[in-house]
Amino acid sequence: MSKHEMLGVTRGTGQSELACTINGEEMKLEVAGSKRLLSMLRDDLALTGTKRSCEIGRCGACMVLVDGKPINACLTMAYQCAGKQITTIEGIGAADGGIDPVQRAFLEEGGFQCGYCTPGMIISVKALLDRNADPSEDEIEEALSGNICRCTGYGGIKRAVERAIEWRRNAP
Ligand code: FES
Ligand code: FES
Repeated sequence: MSKHEMLGVTRGTGQSELACTINGEEMKLEVAGSKRLLSMLRDDLALTGTKRSCEIGRCGACMVLVDGKPINACLTMAYQCAGKQITTIEGIGAADGGIDPVQRAFLEEGGFQCGYCTPGMIISVKALLDRNADPSEDEIEEALSGNICRCTGYGGIKRAVERAIEWRRNAP
């Protein structure tokens, strides 16, 4: 049993077993039918890189990858994740164990200030570049249309995305 199986899982009325993979680790969790993925990640598993903000699907702070697609964890019920692969910001990383190039690009280009929106932005950009290595400006804007940043004005964010695209293009 992993440490995560021990956390925040009190059996009670309406609980059912959820088997899924989170950041590469297979898990079996007891979750209430009313529990949202966001709450399961943050409150039960202490994966607090996924942010809680609007909770109505508007801001993108809670974005995670579910089977490689960006999904709002605040709108997703935990039970809907049965058999799925979930990747949070904690599970994003380069093959050599370092940070993902998208994360490095955000750091180097100053793509954040308070950083509250940043995990969701990085998840959305990663999902975009994994399916389209050379997106147009319109495609970048479309991919980030569900992610709101209230402080940077998007200049640094756009530069970070362009830098990540360039690195991928020039990767050996
Ligand atoms: S917290 Fe989920 S979209 Fe805002
Ligand atoms: S850096 Fe503050 S909301 Fe984006």
